[in-house]
Amino acid sequence: MSSYFGEKLRLQIFGQSHSEAVGVVLDGLPPGEGLDMKSIDAFLERRRGGKNAWSTPRAEADLPEIVSGVVNGATCGAPLCATFANANKISSDYDALADVPRPSHADLNARVKYKGAADQRGGGHFSGRLTLPLCFAGAVCLQILERRGVRVGAHIYSLAGVRDKPYDPMNMTEADFTNGAFPARDPSAGEEMIRAIADAAADGDSVGGIVECAVLGLPQGVGEPMFGGLENRLAAAVFGIPAVKGIEFGAGFAVTYMRGSDNNDGYYFKDGQVKLRSNHAGGIVGGIASGAPLIFRAAFKPTPSISREQGSVNLRSGENVSLRVSGRHDPCIVPRAVPCVEAAAAVALLDAMMVGGFV
Ligand SMILES: Cc1cc2nc3c(=O)[nH]c(=O)nc-3n(C[C@H](O)[C@H](O)[C@H](O)COP(=O)(O)O)c2cc1C
Repeated sequence: MSSYFGEKLRLQIFGQSHSEAVGVVLDGLPPGEGLDMKSIDAFLERRRGGKNAWSTPRAEADLPEIVSGVVNGATCGAPLCATFANANKISSDYDALADVPRPSHADLNARVKYKGAADQRGGGHFSGRLTLPLCFAGAVCLQILERRGVRVGAHIYSLAGVRDKPYDPMNMTEADFTNGAFPARDPSAGEEMIRAIADAAADGDSVGGIVECAVLGLPQGVGEPMFGGLENRLAAAVFGIPAVKGIEFGAGFAVTYMRGSDNNDGYYFKDGQVKLRSNHAGGIVGGIASGAPLIFRAAFKPTPSISREQGSVNLRSGENVSLRVSGRHDPCIVPRAVPCVEAAAAVALLDAMMVGGFV
């Protein structure tokens, strides 16, 4: 069971939540790109669990072991492979789930698809743990993008209905990417979100939310028409993150409430250059970057594993059963998903830039 992404930059993610390790192979990276391991570790730290009330108690070092592809601190052209030990596993947590699939997790579909052979411990290959190697790949790509003037950032746009300060699609700088330890821009909204997660957790429940991501400095012209469009590539990468249920670009579904005269992003000349009067498109028209800030939002569902009683089935005995999921789970996926969304975007954008000859 492996998961692949990319056209010129090919990404493969492997492993299961409770296998020896999870890891990633990145093939096609430009050679001679220096890797700042400190900043990669800092990026991975943003996703790491086990250190606060809003994430899973499963705590691990999450430090990469570089197996290949790096010589003297720089990419050497060979496939870059990095692994992460799964050091903190309690597989017995999943014994009770062997024949009782968790509602809205992948247990039942994986059991049917892989003819009963799938590794169900910790969600197997469907676990949020697989976003650790994705984040490593993203951190590598972010450094290569930053060297070319492309910056990616994200924050929690909303969580359990609590709204953060949204990005301004016309007027953004890198300073807008500054979040606190909790990844909201407005600290008081962040506090309210933390309370909403705690309230749900106290009820044995979970909550979902929306991550907003912006890309600055993407050159106009990156992207392809039809199936190779930037929306297509970003959506494919972002839907690789478990628990994503939707994505919208720019004004997104709100465009359906507008007339063309409101939605159209008019042009004007300033100092001989074509400028935009608005950016409802979110930086993409015809699948191609317009040069304006690229903005999209990804919707995350509430964590499926909850300790409240739910209906399920025992596939062995053929009975209807009630299930309370125990074990270690994120009461909300959204805060840890923020770097995952940045990572998925970075991989998709570097690939798109390579396809278009921009890198
Ligand atoms: C960072 C992250 C952490 C996650 N943590 C959990 C968790 O603790 N418990 C859980 O049931 N699902 C968790 N998930 C979500 C499941 O992996 C996901 O819902 C499941 O694989 C089914 O896939 P789908 O929701 O995309 O359909 C997490 C997802 C991410 C991205």
